[in-house]
Amino acid sequence: MRLYVNIDHVATIREARRTDEPDPVRAAVLVELAGADGITVHLREDRRHIQNRDVTLLHETLRTGMNLELAARDDMIALACELRPLQVTLVPERREEITTEGGLSLSEGSDSLMRAVSRLREAGIRSALFVDPDEVMIQGATDLGADAVELHTGEYANASLGDRDRELQRILEAACLGREAGLSVHAGHGLTFENVLPVASIREIEELNIGHSIVSRAVFVGLERAVREMADLIRTARDRVPTPGKWLPPIGY
Ligand code: PXP
Repeated sequence: MRLYVNIDHVATIREARRTDEPDPVRAAVLVELAGADGITVHLREDRRHIQNRDVTLLHETLRTGMNLELAARDDMIALACELRPLQVTLVPERREEITTEGGLSLSEGSDSLMRAVSRLREAGIRSALFVDPDEVMIQGATDLGADAVELHTGEYANASLGDRDRELQRILEAACLGREAGLSVHAGHGLTFENVLPVASIREIEELNIGHSIVSRAVFVGLERAVREMADLIRTARDRVPTPGKWLPPIGY
């Protein structure tokens, strides 16, 4: 299972003062040295954290892959096609939201998604669609010709302990359906040191995107250590069976 670290919040701190530190490019280098498989950044329409220049510099600097999160707007897709990152994850975006709130709605606006996926394919860029863990969304992503789905784990992360198993089950089922349909299956949003293990033990999921929790922990223990701890945790999940109700939070987190 690959760990992609979302470093948006390094830029969030920088933008709080509109200055030049901390630098996401330096952060990305440390994240790579700590053993992450790739770097994720979200270039939002309002440029609240990551800026165009960051994306360009990261693209030139990274030794691993970049997963660029974008809304499926023509100008954003044009930018991605020019830069040609390894992968683009298409996400819904609303200016007033604090963070991405839900998965893409594949019934509304499917024309723009279809156009985006085909432009990315022509440019040789892998495409992923950020969707809720739901059969209809998996079918929609397959119909649109995406290479991958990123299953939205936000509902799981926000669920009360009593509801968590049900949400985990939804993720498990959607992951199985995605694999059966020939899609690569990723997952992310709201995953933390405390809740990642059950999701990481789902074998059908090949990539996790984690940001906030790693950057938060880095404030106390440093970025390299925070990434290493998360990578280790994910590795320990490999031998576990994702049985709802039968998992324990890792000791010490
Ligand atoms: N995946 C997607 C599509 C996202 O939009 C985000 C947040 O930017 C993440 C994963 C990472 O979420 P978190 O910061 O909660 O780990």
